[in-house]
Amino acid sequence: MTPEQFVAGLPKAELHMHIEGSIEPAQFLRLAQRNGVAIRWQTQEELRAAYSFTNLQDFLDLYYDGCRVLVQPQDFHDVTRDYLRRALADHVLHAEMFLGVQGHTSRGVPLTAVMEGVLSAMEAARVEDAISSGVIVVVQRHRSEHEALALLDALRPWYDRLLGFGLGGAEMGNPPSKFSVFFRRCRERGFNVVAHAGEEGPAAYVREAVELLQVQRLDHGNACLDDPALVAQLAQARIPLTVCPLSNLKLRLVPSLAAHPLRKLMDAGLCVTVNSDDPSYFGGYVNENYLACQRALGLERDDMVSLALNSFEAAFITREQRLAAFRAIDAWVAHSEQEAVA
Ligand code: ADE
Ligand code: ZN
Repeated sequence: MTPEQFVAGLPKAELHMHIEGSIEPAQFLRLAQRNGVAIRWQTQEELRAAYSFTNLQDFLDLYYDGCRVLVQPQDFHDVTRDYLRRALADHVLHAEMFLGVQGHTSRGVPLTAVMEGVLSAMEAARVEDAISSGVIVVVQRHRSEHEALALLDALRPWYDRLLGFGLGGAEMGNPPSKFSVFFRRCRERGFNVVAHAGEEGPAAYVREAVELLQVQRLDHGNACLDDPALVAQLAQARIPLTVCPLSNLKLRLVPSLAAHPLRKLMDAGLCVTVNSDDPSYFGGYVNENYLACQRALGLERDDMVSLALNSFEAAFITREQRLAAFRAIDAWVAHSEQEAVA
């Protein structure tokens, strides 16, 4: 079995992807036309050529602008449903998706349109494909904590269908401490909490996310390696990192995948997972992220199994779901070993 075949059949969870980052060029053009939204690009090739970034802010400018093609509940439904189909094709059994609600409501799109569009697609995917999914609302850190608190209240009608809250957007100059009251309130209301930290920002931001915000997972978290005491603390508490290798490459946070810290993070005993972040912008869905790392860093089959096991350890799922996923991984490994003997 080739690494490609092994990764293709390996059951996994994806825990760090943004729904708005999964609009494929063809769909982007269709949505712009359907909603009469003027855009700068005419063809898929022009769009792909625009996906070249110098840093996180450079990407976010294009990404937020691209969100304008999402207007109707059906748009949010279609984008979410399409991502979940691609996830299923990558043998993702469970997906936790970020939704940047403020990027839509700030343009005048009703909260109901965003939420009902996404939630109806998740339900359709569960019924039609037996894929489980959850949605994590990610607040934009360049906005105020006051706005985040107002959003938390406005989302009350959907509380029982929300998995949790996260923090995303422009990291530098917007430390986790800016949102300490918001995160405390999310925790008080029983939500899971995660935060992007240590993507572009320093180890001190990772520490703040853990100690002040008390996040259950770190999105990216790469910069923790600059603080050995913090690494030990994360390993001891088994706070998972949702690492996104192709994203880090495209946003020039690493010069090459061979220089990516994934292996160092794993060797430090951390609960590391591999994810796609914004797959249509960064050149690959979750399997492509596994494989690109396998090639660049020489990951062994056991490493890929560890990453998949970690993804279910880190997921916000029930004990039954977790055990079923572990059994599915064991079965796939046994199958691959039988093939090797035969
Ligand atoms: N929103 C979408 N992608 C993001 C990223 N890589 N970092 C922070 N916020 C994001
Ligand atoms: Zn992200």
